Amino acid sequence: MSHEDFDDRARQILRDNDRGGYTIPTRGLYPYQWNWDSAFAAWGFSSFDIDRAWTELETLFSAQWDTGMVPHIVFWKPDPGYFPGPDVWGAGQEPATSGISQPPVAAILARKIHAAYPDAGEPRLRALYPKLVAWHRWWHRDRSAEGVVAITHPWESGRDNCADWDPGMARVDGSGVGDYTRRDTGHVDASMRPSKQDYDRYLAILQFGRACGWDQAEIVANGPFYMADPAMTFILIRAHRDLAAIGRSLGEDVSEIESWCADLEAGLERIWNADLGAYDARDLRTGEFANCLGSGAFLGWLAGIENAEMEARLMAVWDGVRYGIPSNDPAASEFNPRRYWRGPTWPVVNALIAMGFADAGREAEEARLRRETVELIERGGFFEYFDPLDGTACGGDHFTWTAAIWLTWASPNARRI
Ligand code: GLC
Repeated sequence: MSHEDFDDRARQILRDNDRGGYTIPTRGLYPYQWNWDSAFAAWGFSSFDIDRAWTELETLFSAQWDTGMVPHIVFWKPDPGYFPGPDVWGAGQEPATSGISQPPVAAILARKIHAAYPDAGEPRLRALYPKLVAWHRWWHRDRSAEGVVAITHPWESGRDNCADWDPGMARVDGSGVGDYTRRDTGHVDASMRPSKQDYDRYLAILQFGRACGWDQAEIVANGPFYMADPAMTFILIRAHRDLAAIGRSLGEDVSEIESWCADLEAGLERIWNADLGAYDARDLRTGEFANCLGSGAFLGWLAGIENAEMEARLMAVWDGVRYGIPSNDPAASEFNPRRYWRGPTWPVVNALIAMGFADAGREAEEARLRRETVELIERGGFFEYFDPLDGTACGGDHFTWTAAIWLTWASPNARRI
């Protein structure tokens, strides 16, 4: 198949997963609108249908809470094939949503979508801007109290099952969650998915949020899980900068956004793990570091964070695999090349890291990461993620964000804006 054939297939995947105004990640496994998947879908659409790109973001933000939070899932239409669904979350919103958020990449990608077709996008960007500001204010108020971005559920990180969350998860009691039936293992082989013990704990954290009516102050103060995430911190620093740039271009006063960004930059030392020689996830209840070298630290480039010691460690991690940036260090005891976030590489995370490389002038690294990602997709198809050692395609097929980053970044025909 030629690159043009892959481009056609990628566009077809976005069309197939379009449910009318919003795009699902893939049929079966993920039948609703997911937050950061949608932002990537919008970016993908912008390569061939700019109007549809803006619609995707507008639909996502139409589910924004009064608090400013943009939820991690919007349950537009009931689908019994997914668990935990809207009744389990009990978030009391219309449309029904989950009760947590997901990586704030929307401002980063909205800026790129606008740059692709500035004139057409101006009114849409102007209308979206106050909603983006309200969401970023929520991140500042409800998730950045300690100067770093902290997550209240592993699913909030988007890197759901990473070894980064092991210290926090070990302290969660999942024994009282009651009976439930998982649906994910009906779509994908159980060896690629989180364990039963992990799932019990995910549900225990969810049940805490539900029991307090999703009161964020209570969740932050007393919730069963509260960990600082380097990836989220780097993503939000970058997103704040992009949002400030958008605001400036619209003639807005962006000093508030700049101050949020400065706070996060100043807080970075809290997640510097000197023993590891890298920024690291940290349990904020105990102070314990996760000691994980993986995709989280690699996202430092996205925020323009350069550090020679960390770079040497990270390049060794990358050289330890054949394809892409692994979600965990192949030398770590918990490394598993096929289990969800415990080793595999995600094309979409590679695209974000490559954005960082490109902006840092790291052309050789950017080209290498793109080459490796292209090879994975050409050999395995538009899958959710891949084994970084032998390139085996894993998880869901016909995947929206893999198609989206193909069109905008990986494809040799991409405009790469
Ligand atoms: C998984 C991923 C998450 C993603 C979702 C839909 O839960 O961990 O990041 O948003 O699937 O693709």
